Amino acid sequence: MNKVRIIGTGSYVPEKIVTNEELSCIVDTSDEWISSRTGIRERRISEGEDTSHMASKAALKAIENAGVKAEDIDLIILATATPDSFIPSTACIVQDNIKAINATCFDISAACSGFVYGIDIATQFIRTGSVKTALVIGAETLSKVLNWKDRNTCVLFGDGASAAVLKESDVEGILSIYRGSDGSKGKFLTCNAVPVKNPYIDSKETMGDIDNAITMDGKEIFKFGVKIIVQGVEELLKDTTYSLKDIKYIVPHQANFRIIESAAKRLGVSEEKFYLNLDKFGNTSAASVGIALDDMVQKNLLQSGDKILLIGFGGGLTYGGLIVEW
Ligand code: UT7
Repeated sequence: MNKVRIIGTGSYVPEKIVTNEELSCIVDTSDEWISSRTGIRERRISEGEDTSHMASKAALKAIENAGVKAEDIDLIILATATPDSFIPSTACIVQDNIKAINATCFDISAACSGFVYGIDIATQFIRTGSVKTALVIGAETLSKVLNWKDRNTCVLFGDGASAAVLKESDVEGILSIYRGSDGSKGKFLTCNAVPVKNPYIDSKETMGDIDNAITMDGKEIFKFGVKIIVQGVEELLKDTTYSLKDIKYIVPHQANFRIIESAAKRLGVSEEKFYLNLDKFGNTSAASVGIALDDMVQKNLLQSGDKILLIGFGGGLTYGGLIVEW
């Protein structure tokens, strides 16, 4: 099996900052409620940029930071719940934008676990020798699938993109992998596509408004998030000789600081071990773990040899985690 390493990261968020205060002008909420219940203070909202646009910007930064050329990329995996279109895939649009002419490209749908799933899949491709260099992107324009009248959801999410370049290496950088799905709980976090409607079905039954906004049972997702972080950390460590003391940072899906508080308490570690930037970006779904990771890289928080643990959970329901040696 070949060894794999993350050799570069990048991220991009739209310029427009929307504060909690500003949201309270369009929906019945307050800065006090949002910040005390979630930790979110502001988020970035697209003023017209679609998912491929943000994804391409993040990808170009990751490629530059990795010191490779776009032509070196053999594989592009783009995780999103908010693609530009059903066809072509957003990964193919990015390929054209960044001129990664030698890449095979496809999207994956794993909601907030998307970035971790993407790194997992790219790792398997590189380990088997099928590709040498892969670009993983998590990108979302969640603002286009939010019901801006629903205070239960619209205050939580933000837009943005993140990317990482993985490459075959002499040293192993992916030390442990954890993944799974539970489709039986899919109803707790949904966003519809289009209904089945064609000339062979009685059209009256399928007519009506298409409801394609995000719906969520916040409490169920909250419990699921805490459970997955605790279980994921334990399972990931089990496959290694390391303990939590050896992990410099846990980089979780950035959904709610109270999920992190509960998980930290159950794991018996300080909340300081978790890297959080949800106060600035909200929940950016598939982009969130990667945006946090790139933020850490930009702040010089990671040195060669550091071990970090990435963990994602979300719609599907899906979950996944990795221990990465930097
Ligand atoms: O990426 C994964 C996806 N999502 C998540 O991870 C989210 C996980 N869940 C959560 O983060 C939390 O469950 C929420 C932040 C969504 C909600 O927090 P909560 O403490 O579970 O609040 P709640 O749903 O029990 O609502 C409490 C009250 C309700 O009012 P009543 O019924 O007690 O009068 C809500 O109507 O807060 C009300 N409420 C709000 N009030 C002001 C709900 N949203 C808002 C809001 N502003 N934005």
